[in-house]
Amino acid sequence: MKVLVLGATSAIAQAAARIWAARGDDLVLVARSPEKLQAVADDLRTRGGKVETMVHDLNDPVSYPPADVVLLAHGVLHGPDVLQTNLVGPIALLEKIAEVLLPGACIAALSSVSGDRGRAKNAVYGASKAGLDAYLSALRQRLFHKGVRVVTLKPGFVDTPMTAQMQKTPLFSSPAAVGRGIVRAIDGRSDVVYLPWYWRFIMLIVRMIPEPIFKRLSF
Ligand SMILES: NC(=O)c1ccc[n+]([C@@H]2O[C@H](COP(=O)([O-])OP(=O)(O)OC[C@H]3O[C@@H](n4cnc5c(N)ncnc54)[C@H](OP(=O)(O)O)[C@@H]3O)[C@@H](O)[C@H]2O)c1
Repeated sequence: MKVLVLGATSAIAQAAARIWAARGDDLVLVARSPEKLQAVADDLRTRGGKVETMVHDLNDPVSYPPADVVLLAHGVLHGPDVLQTNLVGPIALLEKIAEVLLPGACIAALSSVSGDRGRAKNAVYGASKAGLDAYLSALRQRLFHKGVRVVTLKPGFVDTPMTAQMQKTPLFSSPAAVGRGIVRAIDGRSDVVYLPWYWRFIMLIVRMIPEPIFKRLSF
């Protein structure tokens, strides 16, 4: 199987890529930092993967060769580039990628539970992921008839460099656990996957809180 990993230096993407490497899959890794990318590629080669690398800033959409699986994993939590990096860039990228995928292929993209309901603490990030969810739903409908799957991956809190500044609670998962969930989701048949699974129920409750109450909460 050939896997294209966009944002391959992400801690979550690396965890999934380690599983594919151990299976002996072909990996095409794309990231913007040559040094970090080299380190990730070396690690995956020692685990059995056949690895190619491409250094790109993913905010500059270019064309990629077809793959059996595309994992879109890059993202930022704060700063002026959140909408560009998490939403505008991914749409431009996936529009190009969708053109070359063959029947049987799968696109899996890292959204977030944050897209399920806007919170004051991460307003722009949540909006970017809500937008990505809507786009992936549309892409899933469009590509269904071509035999290409689209999987929306929605992790809760994961202990990675992105959340390094946050206080860790029991709700945090490891990148390894989420990486296993990603590979399982891609191997399976689901369209929208919460990682770990219990976030589906947490977010169901969060979405059900009436707005007059929700606006008073500070979580
Ligand atoms: N951690 C969480 O709690 C959590 C929860 C839900 C969803 N997610 C989502 O999961 C995905 C992976 O996040 P993570 O937790 O693994 O964080 P991470 O380790 O900080 O990874 C983020 C990655 O995005 C890359 N990136 C950002 N902008 C880029 C650009 N313009 N071009 C290329 N690469 C770019 C970063 O590259 P550099 O290293 O070069 O900066 C980094 O490798 C993100 O989409 C995130 O929103 C994370």
